[in-house]
Amino acid sequence: MPIEWNEELATGIKEIDDQHKEIIKRMQIIDNSSEQMVSEEEIDKMVRFFGGYMIEHFDTEDKYMIDYKYPKYDLHKSEHMKFLKNFAVLKRLCEEEDSTSLIILAIQNQFLDWLVHHILHTDKEMAAYLRTRI
Ligand SMILES: [Fe+2]
Repeated sequence: MPIEWNEELATGIKEIDDQHKEIIKRMQIIDNSSEQMVSEEEIDKMVRFFGGYMIEHFDTEDKYMIDYKYPKYDLHKSEHMKFLKNFAVLKRLCEEEDSTSLIILAIQNQFLDWLVHHILHTDKEMAAYLRTRI
C-alpha cells in the first residue's frame, strides 16, 4: 500500500493535519523501496522518532478534546492508549528481531493500518465536532 497524504485524510484542523502529514512523511522510508534497501538502522531511527512523536501528537489531540469538551473523549483516548500499548510491543520486536522484512510487515499491520483507520474514522469525527466550535 503506498504511503502518502491525500485530502481524504484531512481533518480540517491545521495543527492536527500537519502532524498527520509529518507521521506519514516519516513512514515513507518503508514505502517504494524493497525490503532489502531499508537498513535496520533506518527502521530503528524511525521507531525511536515515533516513540516521542506519537505521544506529542496524542497530547495535541487531547488538548483540543479537553478544551472543547468533546463528548467522545474517553473513547478516543482509549484508542490512543491501545496504540501506545501495541507500539511498545513493536518496539520490543525491533530490538529482538533481526529480520527487517518482518519488522516492516509489523509496522504496516500494526501501525499504518491503525493510523489510516483512526484518522479516517475517529479523528475525522472529532474534527467535525471541533470545527463547529473553534
Ligand atoms: Fe486521534
